[in-house]
Amino acid sequence: WASHIPAKPSKTLILSFPFHKPQRQKLSIQFSLKPNTATTTTTTNMDPKSVQSELVLILDYGSQYTHLITRRIRSLSVFSLCISGTSSLHSITDLNPRVVILSGGPHSVHSPDSPTFPPGFVEWAEAHGVYVLGICYGFQLIVQRLGGEVRVGEKQEYGRMDIVVESDSGIYGNRCEGDRQVVWMSHGDEAVSLPEGFRVAARSHQGSVAAAECKERRFFGLQYHPEVTHSPEGMDTLRYFLFDVCGVSKGWNMEDVMEEEIKVIKDMVGPRDHVICALSGGVDSTVAATLVHQAIGDRLHCVFVDNGLLRYKERERVMDTFDKDLHLPVTCVDASERFLSELKGVVDPEAKRKIIGKEFISIFDDFAQDLEDKLGKKPAYLVQGTLYPDVIESCPPPGSGRTHSHTIKSHHNVGGLPKDMKLKLIEPLKLLFKDEVRQLGRILKVPEAFLKRHPFPGPGLAVRVLGDVTEGNALDILRQVDEIFIQSIKEAGIYDSIWQAFAVFLPVRSVGVQGDQRTHSHVVALRAVTSQDGMTADWYYFAHKFLDDVARKICNSVRGVNRVVQDITSKPPSTIEWE
Ligand code: XMP
Repeated sequence: WASHIPAKPSKTLILSFPFHKPQRQKLSIQFSLKPNTATTTTTTNMDPKSVQSELVLILDYGSQYTHLITRRIRSLSVFSLCISGTSSLHSITDLNPRVVILSGGPHSVHSPDSPTFPPGFVEWAEAHGVYVLGICYGFQLIVQRLGGEVRVGEKQEYGRMDIVVESDSGIYGNRCEGDRQVVWMSHGDEAVSLPEGFRVAARSHQGSVAAAECKERRFFGLQYHPEVTHSPEGMDTLRYFLFDVCGVSKGWNMEDVMEEEIKVIKDMVGPRDHVICALSGGVDSTVAATLVHQAIGDRLHCVFVDNGLLRYKERERVMDTFDKDLHLPVTCVDASERFLSELKGVVDPEAKRKIIGKEFISIFDDFAQDLEDKLGKKPAYLVQGTLYPDVIESCPPPGSGRTHSHTIKSHHNVGGLPKDMKLKLIEPLKLLFKDEVRQLGRILKVPEAFLKRHPFPGPGLAVRVLGDVTEGNALDILRQVDEIFIQSIKEAGIYDSIWQAFAVFLPVRSVGVQGDQRTHSHVVALRAVTSQDGMTADWYYFAHKFLDDVARKICNSVRGVNRVVQDITSKPPSTIEWE
C-alpha cells in the first residue's frame, strides 16, 4: 500500500467527454430517481403465456411470505407467478393456471374491506379442473366464501406448533393418520365450521383446524405456512400437493428460459436494429447483456461508465471480465473528472445522488448520439436488468390507504424512464428472481466469482464517503481500506455468507499515537450485513481475531487512518449504506 491507489483513474480511457459538451439533440434516455413511470414505452420480454411449464398462480393477499411461495414452487421446477389477490377474473383466467394458491395476509375475513378473489372465481376453477390451495388468510377466504364459518380465534396461534394428521387425506396422502409435524402458524382467526363436502385433514394440538380439503371440488387449505423453513416438512407437503395431488409436471428450468428469451429477442429486434445497454459491473445488467448478445451479436452496444466513484481497480476488473470471459463489446467511458467536478463541495446525500443520476443521463445521451453518428441510425432498443421482485404487484399493508401497487425501490432504480421515450425496452430478466438470474448466468458462462459479487450502489463510493467526496484524498483512502477489508473477507472464506461488505469514510479525525508521534487522522467504519433482499438486514458477526487483524492491517498500511470502528446496526433502524 506504499504505492497510492490513484483517486482518479489513469488515462487509459477509450472515450472521454468534455465538461461542457455542445448541446445536441437528445436521444431521450433518462435517469431519474423515481420509479419507472414510462407509459408509452413498449417492452420486449418473455410472455408468461409462452412458458412451456404449467403455471401455479399465486394470488397475493399481503403476507410477508407470498414471494417466498413463488420462489419455493420455482425451486421445484414449476413455473409460478404472483399477482394481486384482487385481480380481475379475466387476468387470472387469461394466464391459464393449473393451480391457484391464495396467499396469507394480515387481514381478517370479517373486516368489510378485506381483499378477496373476484366473483366467478370458484365457478371458473371448478369448471376448468383448476386446483385451489389457500394458505392462512387464503384458507379462511375459502372457508368463508364457500359457506363455512371463520371465527376470531379464542386462542391466538402464532409461532411453531405441532399438528396431527387426521384420517386418510389428500394433501397428506404420503403421511399416516396420527403423524405429527411442526409447522409455523401465524393467525388469530380460525375455521370453526367447514363448507359442505370439506373434511379436516389436520388439527393443531389445541384442537383447531390446521388443514382441510374437499378433494372432489379440488379445494385445499392450510392454516399454517408450508413455505417457511420453520415448517420443516412444509416443502414436502407442497411437493406432494403439486405433483401427486394436482399432477403438475415439471418444466421450469433456466436452459429453457434462456432459449425462449433468445428466441423472443431475435424475433422482436429487427435484423438491422441496434440495441444499447448500460453495464454497471453488477450481476443483473451483465447477465441481461450477455443474453441479448447471444441473440443479436454485435448489434448490441454496451457502455460502462467510470464515474470516479468505483472501488479499487473496479474498472480494470470488470472490463477484463467483459472482454476475456464474456466477449461483450463494451465501450468504457472515463467520466471521472466530469462527475467529481460536479460533486465538488456537495455534502447533501440526495443532492449527490441527483447530480450523479443527471450525469449518467447525459453520458448515455452522448453515447447513443455517437452511436447514431457512427451507424447512421438511431439505436432502437435499450436493455435493462429489471428483476421480478421489482415488478411484482404486492398487496400493501392494511390501513396504508394504498391500493395494490408496484413495489419498486425508488432510489435504487437508476433507470427511471421518461414518458416520451423513443427506445423500446428489452427486460429479459423481468420474470426472474435473483437466484434464477445467477443460474442463468452460470449457463451463459458468466464466471462464478462475478455472479457472487456483492451488490454495489449506483452512486458508488459517493454514498460511502460522508460529506464532500472530493475533499482531500477521501476516495483514495476509502479504496485502500475497502480493498483490505474485502480481500481479508475473501481470504477468511466468508465472502459468500455476507450480503454486502464495505468500508465507509467518516469526515472526522481522531487523536492517535503511531510510532512515537501523536496523530490526528481519519476514522473509517467497516460495515458487513446479511440479508435476503436488501430490504432488511442484520450486521454480520465477525470473529474478534478477524476484526483485530483487519483493523491492524488498515492502520499499518493506509496512511492517514488511525482508527477503525465497526457498524453494528441492523436495518431497520439503519440502512445498509451510510447515505
Ligand atoms: P439501503 O442503504 O437503502 O440499501 O439499505 C439497500 C440496498 O440497495 C443498495 N443501494 C443502492 N443501489 N442506487 C443503487 O443502485 C442507490 O442509490 C442505492 N442506495 C442503496 C445498497 O447498496 C443495498 O444493497
